[in-house]
Amino acid sequence: MYGLINKAFKTMIIEDKGDEAWVAVCKSLNSEPLDFNDFEQYDDKVTLDAILAYSKLTGEGAEVILESFGKFWVHYTQESEYQTILHSFASGPVELIESLDALHSRLELTFDNLTAPSFWTERESENKVLVYYSTSRELPLQFFVVGLLKGIFKMFDKPCKIEIVEDLKGVTCSFAFRVTF
Ligand code: HEM
Repeated sequence: MYGLINKAFKTMIIEDKGDEAWVAVCKSLNSEPLDFNDFEQYDDKVTLDAILAYSKLTGEGAEVILESFGKFWVHYTQESEYQTILHSFASGPVELIESLDALHSRLELTFDNLTAPSFWTERESENKVLVYYSTSRELPLQFFVVGLLKGIFKMFDKPCKIEIVEDLKGVTCSFAFRVTF
């Protein structure tokens, strides 16, 4: 994963629990306090290990940490140099979700080896949409995506409920989510 993601995770920990929490996470990884270069690629294991170490430190499950990180990521990118690109695709929450592939494609100009996820939707009713997500990564990213989707709706001050759909009815994707808003 590009360092930008790991750096955001580090920032979330420091904002929530202070510098010493990040020092403790790195110590449990047998490392000095780590810093990340936005444009350098790190093994996905670095991200996963940091998530698991923070989960152990706080006693919260990894899925809870990942969901919080998803929400934080939307907030973080809104405050970052990527806010213009994010807002250019954000005419509404569902429109933003439907534009995520285009958004990540645009980012390939900056991150030339991006291994981007893919998202597409299917409308179930006026206030219900199925969101399909495909990733090539071996990480439990469905919980990250739950937080991301919540973060996207929060961006538009809209409450939403998210359910991970177990029965994919033959659709080829990694995970699907039913979003009710
Ligand atoms: C302008 C805002 C955004 C930027 C700068 C950005 C950038 C990135 C970058 C650099 C990666 C790492 C990919 C890699 O290392 O190969 C990534 C991954 C990812 N992004 Fe975005 N992204 C943005 C917005 C979003 C939003 C709003 C979502 C909401 C669903 C999203 C979903 C994901 C997911 C799920 C991954 C994990 C990769 C995977 O699933 O395989 N991103 N993004």
